[in-house]
Amino acid sequence: MTGLPWDASYRGGPAPWDTGRPQPAIVRLASEGGFAGAVLDAGCGTGENGLHVASLGLSVLGVDVAETALAIARAKAGDRGIEAEFAAADAFHLERLGRRFQTVLDCGLFHTFDGDERPGYVASLASVTDHDGALYVLCFSDDGPDTGPHPVSQEELRAAFSPGSGWNVVTIKPDRVQTRYHDDHGAPAWLATIKRI
Ligand SMILES: C[S@@+](CC[C@H](N)C(=O)[O-])C[C@H]1O[C@@H](n2cnc3c(N)ncnc32)[C@H](O)[C@@H]1O
Repeated sequence: MTGLPWDASYRGGPAPWDTGRPQPAIVRLASEGGFAGAVLDAGCGTGENGLHVASLGLSVLGVDVAETALAIARAKAGDRGIEAEFAAADAFHLERLGRRFQTVLDCGLFHTFDGDERPGYVASLASVTDHDGALYVLCFSDDGPDTGPHPVSQEELRAAFSPGSGWNVVTIKPDRVQTRYHDDHGAPAWLATIKRI
């Protein structure tokens, strides 16, 4: 678990990626009916994306290793009157949750992992995702100027979520990720739609 270093980034003010709003890409995806059934938000941070999805009436569990972020997420849910669960869990051992999900969201988590960490994470995601369930990965892309700190290529996404690992990459589309240190236009991103085989 890499909880302590991550937790520190949530103390003493918002983390660089924590804009206090759901990502526009996720809001759009939700408005298009992209989320169904039980939803897992892996690496949920302070919960803006999960809370948005929960506000639409879906059952959402957000998990993170940063207790400070989880406490903020729970407080927001209470303040806004939104029913959503936030729990401490390691994304490398999601099977320990003992739960399954029809839709899984990864907003900014995959791109934090090194290449040698990805197979374990991808297998962990597979262990909790229903057959034919959907996984959305919104990550910094290597496409264009002013990329985020851990840009990922389309090839890396396809290699990580290969059919051999139980996934089928349906689409990878250019999108944007908002941060506190980019202008309103955000940073170049990929939005990958990936199905569990
Ligand atoms: C870049 S932040 C994105 C947070 C949130 N999804 C958002 O969009 O604001 C990555 C998040 O993943 C969490 N994280 C890192 N490693 C993790 C792990 N092994 N298991 C669960 N969460 C993890 C961090 O604590 C952090 O909250």
